[in-house]
Amino acid sequence: MTTQVERMSLLKAPTSLPLVAPSILSSDFAHLGDECKAVLVSGADLLHLDVMDGYFVPNLTMGPALCASLRGALPEAYLDVHLMVNKPLMYVQPFADAGANLFTTHVEAEDDPFVVAEAARKAGMDTGIAINPPTDVEEILPYIETFDLILVMSVNPGFSGQAFIPEVLSKVSTISERLRPDQRLQMDGGVGPKTCEACREAGCDVLVAASAIFGTDDYASAITGLRGH
Ligand code: DX5
Ligand code: ZN
Repeated sequence: MTTQVERMSLLKAPTSLPLVAPSILSSDFAHLGDECKAVLVSGADLLHLDVMDGYFVPNLTMGPALCASLRGALPEAYLDVHLMVNKPLMYVQPFADAGANLFTTHVEAEDDPFVVAEAARKAGMDTGIAINPPTDVEEILPYIETFDLILVMSVNPGFSGQAFIPEVLSKVSTISERLRPDQRLQMDGGVGPKTCEACREAGCDVLVAASAIFGTDDYASAITGLRGH
């Protein structure tokens, strides 16, 4: 059992923005604990876990058991769980029990985002809502004020290593002007040395990156580069 209910949310009281969230999807799974420790000592703020069910996206990745193992090995880490699944509601309690800090689901998923947010918050987690590149920004506007974090996907989800879709930056501006200071705006997909500045300038304050961090030999300089300072 974790104590995340009492834990101060990294999202609401960040020390320095933007936050950098390495996506472990591109890490060496044979050495996952060491990979996570390496990015944390290199300056990562969050660990981003990409959960895929094979239906919402054409890939299978990780579930609550892996999250629980990371929580056990890294008691202080902020675990940012991004669910690319059709029915997120059934995973709220399993991920809360596994020590997840942030539970982000998609506006395109089948369950009602308000119901998912209420359940996740009750279970002690921060809440996030994500929007895919082809989805009109209007679809997410009714939900924005309810969530702690809005995630704008800059690739079609399913795999790391894809090219950034610049057209999504206009969504960031639309969403950004509607956020309170205690809410975060996250970008995920193709974020790297060539694209991070545009993300930051558009208003993103949480940057997810898989290949731009785990694909390099120097995690610290990759993270510093993404943060911009
Ligand atoms: C894609 C995932 C991303 C992915 C990012 O579906 O949500 O988090 O791991 O990978 P890069 O940074 O390599 O585009
Ligand atoms: Zn992700």
